[in-house]
Amino acid sequence: MTTTASDSFKARYSSAILNTFGPPSLVLERGEGVYVWDVDGKRYLDLLGGIAVNALGYSHPALIGAVAKQLSTLGHVSNFFASKPQVELGEKIQQIFAEEGYDQPVRTFFANSGTEANEAALKLTRLHKPGGKVLALTHSFHGRTLGALSITDKPAIQDPFLPLPGNVEFVEPTAAAIEAAFDDSVAAIFMEPIQGEAGVVPVPDDALTTARALCDAHNALLVIDEVQTGVGRTGRWLAAARCVKADIVTFAKGLGGGIPIGACVGVGSVGDLFGPGSHGSTFGGNPVACAAALATLDHVSGLLGHVTETGAWLESELSSLGFEVRGEGLLRGIAVRDSAAVARQLLNAGFIVNAPNPTTIRVAPPLVITKEDLASFVEAMKGLAHTEAGAQ
Ligand SMILES: Cc1ncc(COP(=O)(O)O)c(C=O)c1O
Repeated sequence: MTTTASDSFKARYSSAILNTFGPPSLVLERGEGVYVWDVDGKRYLDLLGGIAVNALGYSHPALIGAVAKQLSTLGHVSNFFASKPQVELGEKIQQIFAEEGYDQPVRTFFANSGTEANEAALKLTRLHKPGGKVLALTHSFHGRTLGALSITDKPAIQDPFLPLPGNVEFVEPTAAAIEAAFDDSVAAIFMEPIQGEAGVVPVPDDALTTARALCDAHNALLVIDEVQTGVGRTGRWLAAARCVKADIVTFAKGLGGGIPIGACVGVGSVGDLFGPGSHGSTFGGNPVACAAALATLDHVSGLLGHVTETGAWLESELSSLGFEVRGEGLLRGIAVRDSAAVARQLLNAGFIVNAPNPTTIRVAPPLVITKEDLASFVEAMKGLAHTEAGAQ
């Protein structure tokens, strides 16, 4: 049997890279639009987009132009200094929140990832109510640094690292469970509008609105994690803004269109909790990352309607094949009987998806994807419907 370039890189990977992700299924070399190619030249339709990251797809000229221009102008400065893209991105976020109906001013701390954005949020909740309890939802995912892991309800990834920062309680994502857990000792509740890593499971609107009301009644902070759902992924800037306004919102993933950046946005007086020395990051607010985010947001603003329409079309096509489809916009969980097997079969057929739980495949493609791009995926799912649809 001949050894392919992929085989050879996979062997080198396992010798050079720590084994946190298991063996990689592909070794990718380049991307264009909604397609990627592996090192052996095989093409894949990327329905995962780097896990809800590559909003503009691959090699988008606006992103390349913005990054190249900023890097050739001013690459990195420390946070002893400000830069134009950082300030402009902070202002753009203010504009987005105003568009989503926030009537209080917002201010942003820039980080480099989702887990870091949530670390910043956790620190804000401690300053808000020292010693207070933090509520998080069962099946939540907020990241893997110790603080963010403490509010991530996945025993398999938490248990090896116990003890974690304390005073966290997990509650079912229902209005009744949240109400039962709330009292004056609660400093904050963290919620994802759609639990992406759990299998694209929407959190009910009344759980969100009940949490908002209880936060107001008990002087607690509502923290909405929009790391996976934000920045246009569901067809609007903030998925949760459909029913609640938060005290803190966190972003990452799609914000930089593939360049690492995270953001922790404090609403109203929450923006006053951090002072000099409270928090920091060498790379946070890096001008190149901020320029990438500005270019991404600029383009995503013209894609929101497209995301809603394309996502609804995909849902209706797959539903008519008999699949249960969850989620909104271009963040979709598709129920199947054996998600690992389906993801493998689709990969062999040239489609990248993933399997966040044993009975769900997730698609979170570049927001620029079209119905024409998706037609071949729908066709492939038609071939699987007989054995895989109607799982739940
Ligand atoms: C809702 C949510 N929060 C936080 C994170 C962590 O983000 P990162 O991997 O950038 O640290 C993720 C990652 O999947 C996520 O889905």
